[in-house]
Amino acid sequence: MIEQIRNIKSTEELTALHSSIFGKNGSMTVRLKDMKNLDNDARVLLNAEVADLREAFKVRQTQLEELSVLSGLKAHKLDATAKFDTARNFDTGKLHPLSQALAEISAILADMGYEMRTGPEIENDWHNFTALNVPPHHPARDMHDTFFMESGNLLRTHTSPVQIRSMEKDGVPIKIFVPGATYRRDMDATHSPMFHQFEGLNIDKNITLADLIGDIKEFVTRFFGREFNMRIRPSYFPFTEPSIEPDIEWQPGKWLEIGGAGMVHPNVLRNVGVDPNEYQGFAFGFGLDRMAMLKYGLNDLREFFKGDVRWLKQNGF
Ligand code: PHE
Repeated sequence: MIEQIRNIKSTEELTALHSSIFGKNGSMTVRLKDMKNLDNDARVLLNAEVADLREAFKVRQTQLEELSVLSGLKAHKLDATAKFDTARNFDTGKLHPLSQALAEISAILADMGYEMRTGPEIENDWHNFTALNVPPHHPARDMHDTFFMESGNLLRTHTSPVQIRSMEKDGVPIKIFVPGATYRRDMDATHSPMFHQFEGLNIDKNITLADLIGDIKEFVTRFFGREFNMRIRPSYFPFTEPSIEPDIEWQPGKWLEIGGAGMVHPNVLRNVGVDPNEYQGFAFGFGLDRMAMLKYGLNDLREFFKGDVRWLKQNGF
């Protein structure tokens, strides 16, 4: 009997066998009813037999339950040696270093109170030059190596035209930054005919050169995550007066120019209908690619725009 219980293969069969022994007219039930007619030794034996049977049923019941759990697990088994060629093996993309740099820069400048604006890459003479105090035939136009189009329009040579567009549209006070692609006829390891700048513009009633230098310093410190010695050199841009170029001491004794800046020229304000005696402020223009190259240690700008997936895999984020 015990052997029979041990070999049972399902809980249903076990239940059936159990009731054929212990059920209403079960074999053991019948014998137990007759117990009063047995002598003492026979009773002890019978009780022992009952206890053994019950124990055997209990053990087998537990075993069968465990087996059913195990077979369920087996059916859903993970094969750790399987190739991830279905759900997991998609080629994850990477963020281009420029996208990464732009995201970091935007977060910092937004936190410093600058709102992001954009403008068109195909510009007209007014916004790219004339309104920025660079009249026709002004020698400063030569600094820009402009790509002209047959229509007379041009590819913007800097993000500064968006200063004009934003003030024309929204007036002052204004505090914005403008990232975007810019174009000049130039090509070597650190220059590409298409490159990126970001512009800052902050016009209000009490803005000074000290505010400009303070913001540049704060931005640089936050972007690179450390403080640099900074040096402010006088410079020239037609649209700012005075104009400066901030340098940072990248390594001891190695100074790097990081962009151009200055107090917005009164003529620029007049060109957008703002009274320079009431409002003044500053602008700055930095190279976005240059910032990314410095921060991430990439030294050939041309690689940025080749679209080589291997480069992106290695240098992306
Ligand atoms: N637009 C200038 C350039 O591209 C940079 C600049 C921006 C300088 C704003 C002063 C103020 O060279």
